[in-house]
Amino acid sequence: MTRFRIAIIAIVALLAAFVSNAEPKHVYLTYSGAPETTIDVNVMLLDKVSAPVEVYYDTEPRNGDVNAYKQHMTATYLPTTMEMSDRRTLHVAALKDLKPGTVYYFVAGEAKYGMTKERKFRTLPGGDKPFRFIDGGDMGVDGLVVPLLTLAAKEDPDFGLIGGDIAYENGLLAGAATWSQWLTNWDQAMVTPDGRMVPIITAIGNHEVNRYESPDFAQRSPWYMGTFGRQGSDVFHAKKIGDNAIFFLLDSGHLEPHDGKQAAWLKQQLEANKDVKFKFAAYHVPLYPAHRPYDGAGSKLGRDHWAPLFDEYSLTMAMEHHDHVFKRSQMLKGGKVVKKGGTVYIGDGCFGRGPRPVDPQVRWYNQKEKSAAHYWVVNVTKKGIKLRAVDDKGSELDKFTLP
Ligand SMILES: [Fe+2]
Repeated sequence: MTRFRIAIIAIVALLAAFVSNAEPKHVYLTYSGAPETTIDVNVMLLDKVSAPVEVYYDTEPRNGDVNAYKQHMTATYLPTTMEMSDRRTLHVAALKDLKPGTVYYFVAGEAKYGMTKERKFRTLPGGDKPFRFIDGGDMGVDGLVVPLLTLAAKEDPDFGLIGGDIAYENGLLAGAATWSQWLTNWDQAMVTPDGRMVPIITAIGNHEVNRYESPDFAQRSPWYMGTFGRQGSDVFHAKKIGDNAIFFLLDSGHLEPHDGKQAAWLKQQLEANKDVKFKFAAYHVPLYPAHRPYDGAGSKLGRDHWAPLFDEYSLTMAMEHHDHVFKRSQMLKGGKVVKKGGTVYIGDGCFGRGPRPVDPQVRWYNQKEKSAAHYWVVNVTKKGIKLRAVDDKGSELDKFTLP
C-alpha cells in the first residue's frame, strides 16, 4: 500500500470519528402551544438527512441512553428559506401532554450528525403559581450580549422574551454565520444555575427583515420566519401563561402593518381575554420612545392604532425596544399621565447593543431614562408583578411593582 493510500485511509477514519462525535448544529426551544404542557424542540442540522430526527425524553435523567427514555417523538422536517443560505435544515418535535412545572431530560438528533448530550427544560407551572421571565431586545452577537445573557440566566428564568432586533442579519441570506453565533450564544450563556435550557418567545424587529418586495414573509425575513415563525398562525401572536397572564407579541410594521388585520386581531384577542388579570404586550418600536423622537413614524402608528386598545382594555404593561436605552414610563392612558388604571411602558431594548444617549431632561411621559445596557426581570405572581432592570455589571437600575 502506498503512503498516499495509507494517508487517505487515516484521514477518512479521522473524519468518521469526528462525525460520530458530532451533534446537531443547534438545538433551541420555542412554544407553539401552551407552555405548561407543550414545548417545541427545534433541531437544526448542517444539511439534509435521510434518517429521521428523533427526540427521546423523560422526567428522569437517563444520561443519553436512548433506550432508557420513557417517551419519544419523531421530529417533523420543516422546509425553510434558511436552506437557501447554507443548506441547514430544521426539524421540530412539538412535544405535548407534558406535566406542568416539571423538569424534562432529553436528547435529540439522528444517525448522520449524532445525538445531543442530555439536556433539560422545565414546563411552566400553570394555575396561579408564580413564574419569571427575562425581557430584552436589540442584541446582535457581540459586545455586551454574552455578559448580559450570562447574568440573565442566573435569574433562573422560565423563558426569555426578545422584542426584536435579535441577530442583526437584516433578513439577508448571508446571515448564516451570524445566526449560528446568536444561537450558540443563547445555548451556551442562557443556561440556568441548575443547567436548564431557557425557551424563547419573540416579537419581530426591523433588523429581521430585508428589502425584497414579496407577499411571502419567508422571503422577506428568512431567518426570523425560519427560526421563530411557528409561534402562532401569523407573525403576531398571543401566549396565555397560567390563569393570570396573557402576552400579545406584536409586529410594529416590519412585515404586518400596525392597523388593518393586526389591529383587528389585537382587539379580538383583548376582548376574548378581558378578564385575564395581567395583560402584557411586547413589540419592537416604542410608542413612548426614550431616544428617538416622540413623533417618529413608527411610534406614532403604534399610538394611533394600538394605544387606544391598550387603554380600552387596561393593558397592564408594554415591553418596548428598538431605542437602545433604559426607560420606565409614567402610568399612561389616553396620551396622559394617570395615577391608576393605565399602562406602564418599559424599555427600550439594550440587551447587547451599545447604549444610546437620552435627553438631558426626562421626557414628560417617562419616569426614568438612562443610557444603559440592561435586561428586565419580571416576576408574575397572583398578587402582582415585580420588576427589576439589571445592567451589564449586574447592578440594579430599577425596581418596582405593578399594579
Ligand atoms: Fe430596531
